[in-house]
Amino acid sequence: MPKYYDILESNELVVLHEVSNLLASSLDLKESISRVFELLHERLGFMKGILTVVNQKTLLPSIKVSYGINSKEFESQSFKQWELITAKVLKSRGPMIIPHLDDVVDINGLKNFDTVLDESFICLPLILGDEIFGTLAVDFLFRDDENLQFIIKLLDIVGLLIVQELKLKKLLDLEKESLRKENVSLKEELSEKYDIHNMIGKSKVMRDVYRSIKQVASSNATVLIRGESGTGKELVAHAIHYQSLRAKKPFIRINCAAIPESLIESELFGHQKGAFTDAFETKIGKFEAANGGTIFLDEVTELSPQMQVKLLRVLQERELTRVGSNDVISIDVRVIAATNNDIEKEIQQKKVREDFYYRLNVFPIHLPLLRERSGDVLLLAEHFLERYNKENNRSISRISSSVSEIFSFYSWPGNVRELENCIERSIIMCNGDILLPKHLPPSIKALESEHDVYTADKLSLKEKVNRYEKKIIIDMLDSVNGNISRAAKSLNTTHRILGYKIDQLNIDVNKIKLA
Ligand SMILES: Nc1ncnc2c1ncn2[C@@H]1O[C@H](COP(=O)(O)OP(=O)(O)O)[C@@H](O)[C@H]1O
Ligand SMILES: [Mg+2]
Repeated sequence: MPKYYDILESNELVVLHEVSNLLASSLDLKESISRVFELLHERLGFMKGILTVVNQKTLLPSIKVSYGINSKEFESQSFKQWELITAKVLKSRGPMIIPHLDDVVDINGLKNFDTVLDESFICLPLILGDEIFGTLAVDFLFRDDENLQFIIKLLDIVGLLIVQELKLKKLLDLEKESLRKENVSLKEELSEKYDIHNMIGKSKVMRDVYRSIKQVASSNATVLIRGESGTGKELVAHAIHYQSLRAKKPFIRINCAAIPESLIESELFGHQKGAFTDAFETKIGKFEAANGGTIFLDEVTELSPQMQVKLLRVLQERELTRVGSNDVISIDVRVIAATNNDIEKEIQQKKVREDFYYRLNVFPIHLPLLRERSGDVLLLAEHFLERYNKENNRSISRISSSVSEIFSFYSWPGNVRELENCIERSIIMCNGDILLPKHLPPSIKALESEHDVYTADKLSLKEKVNRYEKKIIIDMLDSVNGNISRAAKSLNTTHRILGYKIDQLNIDVNKIKLA
């Protein structure tokens, strides 16, 4: 005859395994614990179960899940006893085990368990560390002492599994709350960050830009922002949104160049479940997500002429249909578009439809090249110095005059973005108090002595290509401390070819090594 011990030992493991699976299967604790009670009923003949959870603020227990107890019973005398026991267990933080309920006569105020069967009752505190989360109480048929011991042992582990879930849930709730708070402050931060006053530059061209932003923000007019890469188009789009009445609503950016042609329509307008092979769920598009707010179509001329036609309708009617659906959805979205391409040329080449262009070009804003705003370069440099000082915990007090000089003759092909990256990088390179030429990225530093060549605007194609090639090689050499073999490897060329280029382009490798 196998002893209970053997049977239970293996049974116990199976049950525990199932319990932990159930608990892990859903984040809805109520649901998973109900299923745990069901399982305990099926496997071990438990008849009733109650899980109470302590409110962490008031420390009062409330029933989170009950099993096998009907609403009438909640009113009954025996149920009052359950409540009493729960209170005692919470207070003493120790378990209460009653092997034979009908033996209980007036101990600890317990009586009137109106049972006819020989039932046992267990109530355990759910404790993790020194925190009490609630209680787990069950009621089941008494078989013998050995069985009872094993059930106690089993329940102890079930309780531990549950309390871990409760703790997890609590952490998740806390995290959700802090995420929510973070989101609120992030939004505030964003509207501050994108405040027009945080845009740097006093040049006449920039003052015109600020005026345009103010003028257009309060309207719903479509805005087309033009300017080369890194001139601040996205910043302007943000500024318009955060200056407008839509500031508290979403600002959604979509980079039209980054999404494959086959996906763009569903990205913008959403799709109905089953609209195409991978459309497993109905999905809303960016336009619907931006409802009430602003959509920013970056690199807008990269859209195909077919997509332009579809967008035209949205721009005109403020209506769209999801891919695979016939329902017309009205939207209230402000459209801001941006491009760094030559649209007039693209119209000639039939890459951009003329009607589309006119729809977008309601209120154009043009952002100047950084080198056309020479007075702003140093202002921006100071601004980024302050910002990246803070971000990197540095306290570099100023930019040396030789650096200022280099900055003002450098042509900044990457515009404000390049200047920003340059400062960020230089701050990391600088250990002292003043930003010196040696801290600058090599491509700028190397031009220190030949600035006249670099600023010369009328360079031939060959000269421009050389200049570009030189920049690439210098940057790479710099990142490997002037090691030509490693630079060659990274650039996917040979030591010999790179050595030849270095000679030809007059690159001073020793200077890079010393930097
Ligand atoms: N006037 C400005 N004041 C402060 N920062 C600027 C300004 N213009 C651009 N920037 C910064 O330069 C970087 C590039 O700007 P971004 O708007 O992304 O350019 P674009 O979209 O035209 O490529 C961003 O980090 C942006 O914050
Ligand atoms: Mg951009």
